[in-house]
This record gives sequence, structure tokens and C-alpha cells, in this order.
Amino acid sequence: MVVINPMHETRKRDHIELAQNAQTVRALVNQRFNYEPLLSGHPGEKSDISINFLGKKLDAPLWISSMTGGVGEARHINQNLARLCREFNLGMGLGSCRSLLESNQYFEDFNLRPIIGPDLPLYANLGIAQLELILRENKTHKISELCKKLQVDGLFIHINPMQEWFQVEGDHFQQSPLETLTLFMSQFQKNEIKIIVKEVGQGMGPLSLKSLFELPIDAFELAGFGGTNFSKLEVLRSKALSQENYVDSRSPLFNVGHTPLEMIDFINALGEKNPQIKNLPLIISGGIENFLDGHYLRSRSNNPSVYGHANKFLSFAEDYELLKKFTDEQISGLKMAKSFLTLKEVL
Ligand SMILES: Cc1cc2nc3c(=O)[nH]c(=O)nc-3n(C[C@H](O)[C@H](O)[C@H](O)COP(=O)(O)O)c2cc1C
Repeated sequence: MVVINPMHETRKRDHIELAQNAQTVRALVNQRFNYEPLLSGHPGEKSDISINFLGKKLDAPLWISSMTGGVGEARHINQNLARLCREFNLGMGLGSCRSLLESNQYFEDFNLRPIIGPDLPLYANLGIAQLELILRENKTHKISELCKKLQVDGLFIHINPMQEWFQVEGDHFQQSPLETLTLFMSQFQKNEIKIIVKEVGQGMGPLSLKSLFELPIDAFELAGFGGTNFSKLEVLRSKALSQENYVDSRSPLFNVGHTPLEMIDFINALGEKNPQIKNLPLIISGGIENFLDGHYLRSRSNNPSVYGHANKFLSFAEDYELLKKFTDEQISGLKMAKSFLTLKEVL
């Protein structure tokens, strides 16, 4: 007698019922990768996508980009993100630590080293406007103190002239960020902490990248255009603050910027002229949709890299189980991509 497994019958019935809805659209075929089903087994326990990044080992090339701190719900969010890093061996940047320069009121929001542990990358974050002020007041010791009390590996410096300009209470720079960074690098003990420079969602053009890479920075985060855009966010804030009297004719400016792919092309071109640039670690971020997007952009880059999300992690960050599921899926997706996909030749 043939015994039919009920699961088998259910599956076959599902196939018949769902086939109509499972039609694909030819125009939507992924143009970025060749699919090579013959060349690998399924990624198993031993599949390794770990990477040494900025002197520490990550289990996957995935980064939690700088976000929050200093407001009610931020502590819970940050603690969940740090717990996630610990569980999956990932790295993260803190949101702007500006408030800690003046007071320890929100210290616990940022005090993630005890959660993330000693072995994973954790970086503080300050804006170039604060850096300009700190240098003007001759107070670089405040940065050393900040990094020491947070026990971080280094500092992100975000460069955000467009956001500051749109922000109702924004700071206006008195000199170029390049001048501020150059002065900072010449005064600050380079070996004391690592320095990573980033934008906040607008990216940077080739001239800025070229001059930035002449400085002794340790890594660069793209924070390119196409995801969270802080200029747009500040326009939304000022709209809400001034309510019905709101007029804004500045908005076209928030659509300027560079996508991560465009920036990778700029950086690859710079690396052809100056091979040292090819060694600079990158965090590829700014509207990265998912692991496939991240895998593609990393494959296109000639530099050692990880990819980062801010908003995607934020959308799950209040619920640890969801955050964990999201991350698990990203990592298993990355492993599948590594096993079965190769980059299509760029024409
Ligand atoms: C809620 C939120 C807060 C952020 N705060 C900071 C910040 O304090 N400092 C910073 O450098 N970037 C900050 N960012 C920008 C991100 O680090 C990242 O560069 C940008 O959001 C693009 O990534 P995404 O498109 O994946 O969100 C923030 C982003 C979000 C979503």
C-alpha cells in the first residue's frame, strides 16, 4: 500500500491553488546578478560571511548606522540595537552624542559598551558644527573625555550643511568642514581613537571625497541619497512647528545629492588614481533596501566594506524579536546571494 504523506498532499494542493498568483513579470527580472544554480550547495552552518572591519571581527558585513539618544524611547531602542550587535556580532554607530558634551543626563541612552561587550565596534558621533565650536573654544579634551566615558573605538563626524540649513535651530558653519576636519586631525591624537566621516543621507560629490581622502581618516560612511533624508525631515519639522503659516520654497534643495552607487563609482575612480584609497574601509549606506542591494553595492566597490541601515533597523528596533527576525533574514539572504549569485558585467 502506498502511504501518502498528508504534508505532501497539502503542498501539492497549495501549488495548484497558488500557481495563478505566482506569475512573474519579465521586466522585473533582476538585472544586477547572474544566477548560478549549479555552482554551490545551500549555505549551511559553516557558511562564512564574516569580515574583519576596523580591527574587529563581524559575523556579517552589516552595520547599524548612527541614530538616536537623548529622548524617552531612545534608550530602549539603543539597548535593543546593542543587544542585536552582541547576538549577531555586528557593529554600530551611536546617534549624535552632542548632549553628552554638556551633561550626563542622557548618558544611559548611549552607554552601550556594557551591552555590546568589548569585542565589537561601537562608535560615538558628533556633528561638524560641534567640532568647529570645540576647536574654536580649544576644548578637544572634551572629545577624548566623551570617547573614554562611552568606551568607544572611535568617533563618527557627520557633515551635514544641508540639514543644518533646513533645520529651524540649525548651526551655520563659519568655515568649511574641510578646514575644520584638517585642523581637528592636526590637533587630535590620531592614534587615540579612530575617525570615521559621514553625511546624513545626501551623500557627497567627487571633489569633497577627493579632499576628504587626503586626510588621515580611518573609514568613510557614504550615507548617500535615496533613503532617510534629513533635509526633508527638517522641512517636515518646520512645517509642523509653524503649522498653517508655513511657506517653503527651499525644498528643491533637498533633492540634491548622490546615491551610494554613484558614490561608489566616484570612489573606485579615485582609487584608480591613488591605490591607497582602495584600502579605506567603507560603510555603504543611504536607502539600502535589503541584503541584495547591500550585496550588490559591496560587490561593486573596490574597497573593503560593510553595508549599513539606519531606518530599516529603526522600524523594528522597539521589538527585539522582530529586530532579530529581520536581521536573521538579512544574514541568511546574504549567504544565499554569496552562494548562487555573481555580479553581471557592468557595461
Ligand atoms: C532616526 C534617525 C536618526 C539619525 N540620527 C543621526 C545622527 O545623530 N548622526 C548621524 O550621523 N546620522 C544620523 N542619522 C542618519 C543615518 O545614520 C544614515 O546616514 C541615514 O539615515 C541614511 O540611512 P538610511 O537610509 O538607512 O536611513 C539618523 C537617521 C535616522 C533614521
